[in-house]
Amino acid sequence: MKEQLARMRAEALAALEAVKDAAALDELRVKYLGKKGELTAVLKQMGRLSAEERPAMGALANEVRAAVETALETASKKLEEAALERKLKAETVDVTIPGKTAHMGHRHPMYMALDEIKEIFVGMGFTVLDGPEVELAELNFDRLNAEEGHPSRDWSDTFYFDADSRVMLRSQTSPMQVRAMETMELPMRIIAPGRVYRKDEVDATHSPMFHQVEGMVIDKNVTMADLKGTLNKLVEQLYGPGTRTRFRPHHFPFTEPSCEMDVQCHKCGGAGCPTCKGEGWIELLGAGMIHPTVLEMSGIDPNVWSGWAFGIGLERTAMRRFKIADLRLIFENDVRFLEQF
Ligand code: PHE
Repeated sequence: MKEQLARMRAEALAALEAVKDAAALDELRVKYLGKKGELTAVLKQMGRLSAEERPAMGALANEVRAAVETALETASKKLEEAALERKLKAETVDVTIPGKTAHMGHRHPMYMALDEIKEIFVGMGFTVLDGPEVELAELNFDRLNAEEGHPSRDWSDTFYFDADSRVMLRSQTSPMQVRAMETMELPMRIIAPGRVYRKDEVDATHSPMFHQVEGMVIDKNVTMADLKGTLNKLVEQLYGPGTRTRFRPHHFPFTEPSCEMDVQCHKCGGAGCPTCKGEGWIELLGAGMIHPTVLEMSGIDPNVWSGWAFGIGLERTAMRRFKIADLRLIFENDVRFLEQF
């Protein structure tokens, strides 16, 4: 029995010394120390020993068990260390390999122009409003003094949702004037950028969807001089000091008097060229003093309050700002174009 134990110990230690993986290790554990293992088998024979032999054999068996357990533990640690070593090796990062540069995008040029406009107006104390693109014809037209039969209300110009022409895609940001008058305290200074929709064919200067920025001031003793001063400031900050403007009489149902503002052509400086179609000037926006009827319809007394409003085309502004020749480039999202800004 003594020899049996000694042989077992030698065998076990040799096997554990050479063990290659966790599964083999487990097998050895079961083989030597398990309930049906070799050590148990030896211990079962203890009954056959005499009372004198038993304690010495018991002590020896315990010693063998302890030795095998220690060897198991050592082998298990060795396996773990080897595994970690392998993992670290496999996951080594070579920090000297040149990286792949991430391709960073940036704001769309039209939104750069919009951010500039916002910044200029916020700097003058204006609040920026957001409003719905699906709008009531009542706000897009009636409350802006464009009554039934007005040409802009025609089905050939406007996207309606219903047969009664009551719900539509807004054709201008001007209904935001009404929404502001309905919800804001007087005096007020607001701008309201957003998409507008008209049934236009796509060409170099037209799109059925485009963007406007509406602006409006209502206060006491507001005059056309304030309008001109503010818009000249806008143009100067957008296009540089000394950029010349001109105000031409025009007509809008919701302003009186109404005007359009042109800027001097950036290409020819006013002499006339293909960009400005020989005019020397490029139209930038519509504006005017808010019609007293429009104020009245929103419950504002035109004898106490006065105001002005403007609507500027954002694509056109960006095109001039970044010298873009064709409107379609703004919407096509060709990265080769967009990357230039
Ligand atoms: N809404 C007008 C347009 O789309 C522009 C405008 C806005 C004119 C505000 C006057 C005042 O043409």
